[in-house]
Amino acid sequence: MLSKKIESALNKQVELEGNSSQYYLAMASWAETQGMDGVAQFLYGHADEERMHMIKLIKFINERGGHGIVPATTAPPKTFKSVQAAFELVLSHEIKVSTEINKLVETCLKERDYTTHNFLQWYVSEQIEEEALARKVLDKLKLIGGEKGGLYLFDRDLQALAAADAADATAEK
Ligand code: FEO
Repeated sequence: MLSKKIESALNKQVELEGNSSQYYLAMASWAETQGMDGVAQFLYGHADEERMHMIKLIKFINERGGHGIVPATTAPPKTFKSVQAAFELVLSHEIKVSTEINKLVETCLKERDYTTHNFLQWYVSEQIEEEALARKVLDKLKLIGGEKGGLYLFDRDLQALAAADAADATAEK
């Protein structure tokens, strides 16, 4: 059984994951309108992953006798200054998510809720991967420096990355 304190902290994380999904969905839609189909595909996939993170939390809360609350959606930005600016936002957002996950882990230890602590380890590992990926993508963009030919190749690279991620996700099911 979850304590009210842990239940409420987990529901806050549900909200953050839901907002992350909306945020990346807005970036994907914007990228598509800019002719960056590979970037769009990558970000649509990322938005789906965040939604999956949200649902995984909701199900865990419910399994432990709590109530996973579906959050209200907040409107994300509609446009972004550039692809690089969008990925800078992805990285800073992922760092924020990691900080919140770490706080949650700390709360679980203080409350001696080792079951939730154990469940959250999956999120800890996922955040390491997501931050590393965002940094890798940003490094590539910095190398390109807004050059059109480079951006074209970058877009194709992200298309390949999105396809590989989708294949991994299917294999995991
Ligand atoms: Fe689920 Fe990228 O935070």
